[in-house]
Amino acid sequence: MGEDFRLRVAHDADAGAVTGVLSSAYTRLMAADYDPAVLAAALPAMTQAQPDLLASGTYYVQEVGQETGQGQVVACGGWTRQAPGHGRVEDGVAHVRHFGTHADWTRRGLAAGILDRCKREARASGVHTLQCFSSLGAEAFYAAFGFTVTGRTSIAIGGTMTLPMVAMGTRI
Ligand SMILES: CC(C)(COP(=O)(O)OP(=O)(O)OC[C@H]1O[C@@H](n2cnc3c(N)ncnc32)[C@H](O)[C@@H]1OP(=O)(O)O)[C@@H](O)C(=O)NCCC(=O)NCCS
Repeated sequence: MGEDFRLRVAHDADAGAVTGVLSSAYTRLMAADYDPAVLAAALPAMTQAQPDLLASGTYYVQEVGQETGQGQVVACGGWTRQAPGHGRVEDGVAHVRHFGTHADWTRRGLAAGILDRCKREARASGVHTLQCFSSLGAEAFYAAFGFTVTGRTSIAIGGTMTLPMVAMGTRI
């Protein structure tokens, strides 16, 4: 029997669950593509649920088992008009933010469901272009939904290390 998932808007109270999902996703799924020392330095900050996203109304979780009253958050992600980092807003452009699927729950269409919701809502609010900073391993996920690579970049970690990332975008 297939699992039932529920996609809903995330709230402040999901902080612990979202951090758990991001920890599993980033720790286990990024290990194949990155230097272990760089990942070890980068992950503590990268896997923390972001309060501004949880409060945004455009950040989502997928839950399993909610019909038992003990739902478990197994995927998360969302979009904002503010760019990650500097927070600038550009007319018609939105940013895909903090996607992750628990490593035990991948390839079930959970991130795809959230991305589809992001696209529909962003489009309805006048956005024509979605951008993201993808990890190396997530490039194929975003490419499957029409994103193309716009640049190769990296995040500085601890002054001496770098975490390679992929800048991608798509018209919606
Ligand atoms: C990227 C990520 C969010 C995808 O989550 P997911 O729930 O497994 O993705 P979905 O099941 O919705 O995938 C939908 C489609 O995307 C593509 N896709 C997803 N993961 C893929 C992978 N590892 N390799 C190739 N294609 C992939 C496939 O076309 C897939 O459809 P299919 O399973 O029918 O072939 C997840 O792998 C993850 O958390 N990775 C680590 C953290 C990360 O890099 N997050 C992105 C922020 S930068």
